[in-house]
Amino acid sequence: MEVKTSLLDNMIGVGDMVLLEPLTADSFLENLRNRFDHNEIYTYIGSVVISLNPYRSLPIYTPDKVEEYRNRNFYELSPHIYALADEAYRSLRDQDKDQCILITGESGAGKTEASKLVMSYVAAVCGKGQEVNKVKEQLLQSNPVLEAFGNAKTVRNDNSSRFGKYMDIEFDFKGDPLGGVISNYLLEKSRVVKQPRGERNFHIFYQLLSGASDETLKKLKLERDFSKYNYLSLDSAAVNGLDDAANFRTVRNAMQIVGFMEDELHSVLELVAAVLKLGNIEFKHESRCNGIDESRIKDKNDLKEMCELLGIEQSVLERAFSYRTVEAKLEKMSTTLNVAQAYCARDALAKNLYSRLFSWLVTRINESIKAQTKARHKVMGVLDIYGFEIFEDGDNSFEQFVINYCNEKLQQIFIELTLREEQEEYVREGIEWTNIEYFNNAIICDLIENNQNGILAMLDEECLRPGTVTDETFLDKLNTICGEHQHFESRLSKNSKFLTDHSLPHNCFRIQHYAGKVLYRVEGFVDKNNDLLYRDLSQAMFKANHNLMKQLFPEGNPAKVNLKRPPTAGFQFKASVGTLMKNLQTKNPNYIRCIKPNDKKTPHIFTDSLVRHQVSYLGLMENVRVRRAGYAFRQPYEPCLERYKMLCRRTWPHWRGPAREGVEVLMGDLQVPHEEFSYGRSKIFIRNPRTLFFLEERRRQCLRDLATLIQKIYRGWKCCSRFLLLKKSQVVVAAWYRRYAQQKKYQQIKSATTVVQSYTRGWQARKLLRELKYQKKCEKAATTIAAYWHGTQVRREYRKFFRANAGKKIYNFAIQRIAQKYFLGLKSSLPSMSPIDKSWPVRPYVFLDGVHSELRRIFHLWRCKKYRSEFTSEKKAVFEEKLEASELFKDKKTLYPSSVNQPFKGDYLEISKNPKYQKLSSTVDEKVLLADVVNKINRANGKGTARIFLLTKKNFILADQKTGQVKASVPLPDVTSVSVSTQSDGFFALKLREGSASAVKGDFLLSSEHLIELITKLHHVGVTAADQEQLNVDISDEFLVQFKQDKVCVKFIQTPPKNGNGASCKRRNNRLLEVSVPLTV
Ligand SMILES: Nc1ncnc2c1ncn2[C@@H]1O[C@H](COP(=O)(O)OP(=O)(O)O)[C@@H](O)[C@H]1O
Ligand SMILES: [Mg+2]
Repeated sequence: MEVKTSLLDNMIGVGDMVLLEPLTADSFLENLRNRFDHNEIYTYIGSVVISLNPYRSLPIYTPDKVEEYRNRNFYELSPHIYALADEAYRSLRDQDKDQCILITGESGAGKTEASKLVMSYVAAVCGKGQEVNKVKEQLLQSNPVLEAFGNAKTVRNDNSSRFGKYMDIEFDFKGDPLGGVISNYLLEKSRVVKQPRGERNFHIFYQLLSGASDETLKKLKLERDFSKYNYLSLDSAAVNGLDDAANFRTVRNAMQIVGFMEDELHSVLELVAAVLKLGNIEFKHESRCNGIDESRIKDKNDLKEMCELLGIEQSVLERAFSYRTVEAKLEKMSTTLNVAQAYCARDALAKNLYSRLFSWLVTRINESIKAQTKARHKVMGVLDIYGFEIFEDGDNSFEQFVINYCNEKLQQIFIELTLREEQEEYVREGIEWTNIEYFNNAIICDLIENNQNGILAMLDEECLRPGTVTDETFLDKLNTICGEHQHFESRLSKNSKFLTDHSLPHNCFRIQHYAGKVLYRVEGFVDKNNDLLYRDLSQAMFKANHNLMKQLFPEGNPAKVNLKRPPTAGFQFKASVGTLMKNLQTKNPNYIRCIKPNDKKTPHIFTDSLVRHQVSYLGLMENVRVRRAGYAFRQPYEPCLERYKMLCRRTWPHWRGPAREGVEVLMGDLQVPHEEFSYGRSKIFIRNPRTLFFLEERRRQCLRDLATLIQKIYRGWKCCSRFLLLKKSQVVVAAWYRRYAQQKKYQQIKSATTVVQSYTRGWQARKLLRELKYQKKCEKAATTIAAYWHGTQVRREYRKFFRANAGKKIYNFAIQRIAQKYFLGLKSSLPSMSPIDKSWPVRPYVFLDGVHSELRRIFHLWRCKKYRSEFTSEKKAVFEEKLEASELFKDKKTLYPSSVNQPFKGDYLEISKNPKYQKLSSTVDEKVLLADVVNKINRANGKGTARIFLLTKKNFILADQKTGQVKASVPLPDVTSVSVSTQSDGFFALKLREGSASAVKGDFLLSSEHLIELITKLHHVGVTAADQEQLNVDISDEFLVQFKQDKVCVKFIQTPPKNGNGASCKRRNNRLLEVSVPLTV
């Protein structure tokens, strides 16, 4: 079910000023402030929306909000600009009523933002589709283009629109947008040539210079530096939060979307550049011989560049800045311009050029966005125009005057349309029309626009009058003609009331506008109204070789010389306001009144005086009064009954009859005085907000009571149902508990019974068992007795046969048992199979001594055999060698024991693998049995020299250790014996057969670390070779060695043990070498 809400729900202050009680300026302000402080920036006056500028983004414009306000009634939700936009759009679509949205307020109050919000809301809720979206996009993108050319940074607003804008958006019968038409009013063109302090020129100039590419700037003959251009005030060129370069791209893009061609865009930029160039043209005096001062251009460079840009002949323009041609009917006269006039002419040209360019842009946009079909369409107009403008210090000029005039006219329409609408509603609802008291400002409009004696007519008359015309003559005229008007005030008016009023200076007049008094300074009125551009200049412009320029200055066409003066600015404005009013009058108006809460452009600040001033000149109090003149509040019967039905017993909770009768019953019951309300056809009209608030208050109280009632019933119901639930649960819990308790008790009894039973049974069984055992014992005893008895009898009978053989048999048996036990025991306790394991079980009986040691010997032999049988042939050879070594050295040489556990490696040098010995190994063609490094002892000093010792089957070889060069190769048969000592040294002497070829150099005295192995191998070769004699091995501590001719004795002596080196050899004399061998411990 959709929840029906109302504006009146959760209201902060009052959402609709019509309901304000009491209605005073203070309460009005207080209400606005209160709402503003709570972020409620929108407030209604009836159907008018007041909008306060929050100066920060509020989260109230999201797509969700759009959905919230879509298709809801105006007063259903809290005030919002979307509610107004929705109302306008729906009555346009559904009731076929053209709409206009009038947005007013002073500069910076948020008008332009409001107009964009309305447009974006409508764009969001209207139809979708490719074509429709394109139209929407074009309409929305026209904004950035117009803002670039028509907006500027001012003191009040960084993006202030310096023109009034009215845009008609056209829709088809379905409510889809078809296109639009834009009208512009009163561009503030004076800004082009001069800007107040702290303000900037129009955005486009800065955007062009910051955003255009270098190439474009070069084409336009521009430089990026702002300071190069006189028309760009410098003090506020950069604006915080405004990225001119990025905006330039946005504008270019928007222009493309809207449909500008590339060359059009370029022409537009050329004109913008021309304006900047124009500003740089400066003049100087030149005195002529006739004594008249003439102006001349100072530096012609800028002029030249501008002329090149626009294709104007330089001399033509130069002349136009120095002379002025006055054409009367038949005559043509040329007068010279002085410097001041030349500057005026230059500025007038710049202003005209720019404002015409702006108008052309609007026309061009209109061409693009105009509806393509001719079908009948509905229109929604959005007017974004200045509100009343009052400068406090009386600095109001012609511009303020026309703007305020426009606002007077808008107020007229407002009054007219509001009253008309009010009246129509009364008629529709069948309520008697009571005359409404309000101030009608038609009289002020008349003061300004009357064709005979209106101020604008006076001004035009003054401007067209021959003779000297000044602002003062204009004021005189006003004093005479309008002096007596009750809304006109001047120091010198006929009505001498103001003669002594010092707040009214002499050069000013004051008008009492409907929104307050405004003081206008007459200075500049005539010039601004004339808005003259010398014909020479427009002709020069027309001559330009530039398409767009030609279009902008059609009056310069010599073929169409028109001697009539162009219409004055005032006249043009009045005419366009007139057209606008006519246009608006045919439409259903919707108002947005924008208010600026502070002058600092900052959020959260609400300056009372500022807002009070705006409230007054926007005529908001007037609005409320008009709105309240008849009935302040009205509501259809259904929602009224729905809202207040709880206030009466008969309508609560349901009223069965028609809603109107229900409301009548309700009002009767509440005793509301009859003059306070009227019954219309479909609505009830309430005269005074007080009545409404009375109803609301009653409703609030009633809701509170109802809430209490509902709470009460709910709480009662809740407690009751909780109690019932508890009770039901208790029964269930009790049932379960009892069952559990009984079960437990039963289990206990059952187990107790079982215990008792088992005890009894046990007792019975034990008793039976005892009896049976007793019986069995008795039987056994009887049997034993019987057996003994039989035994005794048998023994008695056989005793005589038994004694003769028993001893021997028992002995044999015992011996057999013992032997059996010994063998079985030995079997299980045999030692390991290792031949070196010396363990053997202990002999159990002395009489087994021989067997025991014999078995040990047999077992040892057997396991040795087993061990041997597992030998491979290599291992066997190794053992044989070891055995041979043992035979040779055991118990003969002290060195031997240490060699037993060293494996005989043979090739210690890895002679065939080591690349170092490659050459050496290649000279030996037999298998090398041993390769090792030995020391060859030098006879002369007993020192050793390292030699490689190689042993093959046929010979042994000594070679140089480093080079591997063979020093000696001796066939083994030439070796007769080898001598070694009995001690732990490694010295040995190889003795050679006398007379053999090898013996020439004598015997070899060598020492080796592997002596035992070396000698064993040498001996073994002799044993195994059939053709060799067996080698003698002499072991003694003194032997002779034959060195060449001499025999030298080598003697070994023992020295006490020492660390480090082993045996050392020393020469004692010619015939004795002494080897000292340290005693090994
Ligand atoms: N509804 C809004 N929400 C947030 N900021 C706003 C709103 N209305 C206005 N503003 C701010 O105020 C500035 C001036 O608004 P603008 O519409 O340009 O004023 P105006 O057109 O009345 O001169 C905007 O640039 C924006 O920063
Ligand atoms: Mg604006």
